[in-house]
Amino acid sequence: MATRAEEAIRAEIARRGPIPFADYMALALGHPGGGYYTAAPARPTRTGDFLTAAELHPIFGAALARQALEAWERLGRPEPFVLLEYGAGAGTLAMALLAGLREEGSPLAAALTYAPVELNEHRLAELREHAAAAGLRLVDPAGLDAVPAAGMVVASEYLDALPVHVLEMHQGRPREVHVAIGCDGAFEEVLGELSDAGIEERLAALRAAGIDLAEGQRLEVCLAVEPWAREVGRRLAAGLVLALDYGAPAAALYGPRRRAGTLMTYRRHVADGGADAPYRDVGERDITAHVDTTALAAALAAAGLDVLGETSQAELLVGCGLEDLFRQGIGAGGGAAEALELRGAVLRLLDPRHLGGFRAVLAGRGITVEPPLRSFAYRMPGRG
Ligand SMILES: C[S@@+](CC[C@H](N)C(=O)[O-])C[C@H]1O[C@@H](n2cnc3c(N)ncnc32)[C@H](O)[C@@H]1O
Repeated sequence: MATRAEEAIRAEIARRGPIPFADYMALALGHPGGGYYTAAPARPTRTGDFLTAAELHPIFGAALARQALEAWERLGRPEPFVLLEYGAGAGTLAMALLAGLREEGSPLAAALTYAPVELNEHRLAELREHAAAAGLRLVDPAGLDAVPAAGMVVASEYLDALPVHVLEMHQGRPREVHVAIGCDGAFEEVLGELSDAGIEERLAALRAAGIDLAEGQRLEVCLAVEPWAREVGRRLAAGLVLALDYGAPAAALYGPRRRAGTLMTYRRHVADGGADAPYRDVGERDITAHVDTTALAAALAAAGLDVLGETSQAELLVGCGLEDLFRQGIGAGGGAAEALELRGAVLRLLDPRHLGGFRAVLAGRGITVEPPLRSFAYRMPGRG
């Protein structure tokens, strides 16, 4: 039986003809009530489809708390200091960040307010309960459009969920993947013209950077990062932006090692990058693509923010004091199970093939960058 998201996509194709993959992905993930991210089940958890850094262990939030504290200090301790979080889920990261501040007796805990951006009403309801229980004040993120605030913006494993246009190079020209319904009634891909002028602009930027796309190469282009960056630029009066996700600079993302693109699906902790995977379990399977950190940094700069740099998530976490937090956690006197869980989490957060290899792009406004921010204070040996 077709899911609600699949029915909606079929109706859309019946009405418009083949639709760009980006529109397909937007409905599969975001269809009101029936999309992967709007339905009731909790996705990024141990019992869900994948485990994010935030859900893995509170030590992740506790480390980011130290970066928030440094930003707050550099801005002269503004009150309130807003944590604007995109893809907030049930607020797990914010609660861990607040707990980290309280654990260290930081006065920022009292100045912190929380502006969560989250598509899923079920998660938002849980988030409100968690915030109330923790005594964390909530503010409406839309209110920041009119009255921007000082604070820290976090988007952790959010940007990879935004819809992407999928392209294939043929005879030197980019063709866009559209989704149609084949003779057998199943979804099928057809190649068509580019559906948005923004795609050509992005390709021109790649050419200008000397990045050649090969015959037959498949690639994804996310145009949603520009409006996102503009929104962040509007909402942040002063402070820091942390975008944490799997991704790579354009030269690596579109280079010889990734000629098949990075589209990936997740269901019950099984990753499937097969050609038909995005068309199975529609609305019940996550669809993601790596973030182009070059385009992301350009979008943040175009939005009037200062791009502060890029590092790996592992380096960022070590710079923020992960080792120290680990020692404190081990010394806190919990049981052996807790200690093992903490150790396992730290290993995954530092593993360059796992969460440690995620990219961290930082931008800011009104933030002095010298001495280096905690996030940039550590470089893995051999990385300069
Ligand atoms: C992979 S989960 C990450 C959740 C959380 N940041 C974490 O790291 O555990 C992506 C989150 O972004 C939310 N999301 C996806 N697209 C969104 C959109 N367009 N607007 C707001 N939230 C969105 C999803 O509902 C989900 O909670």
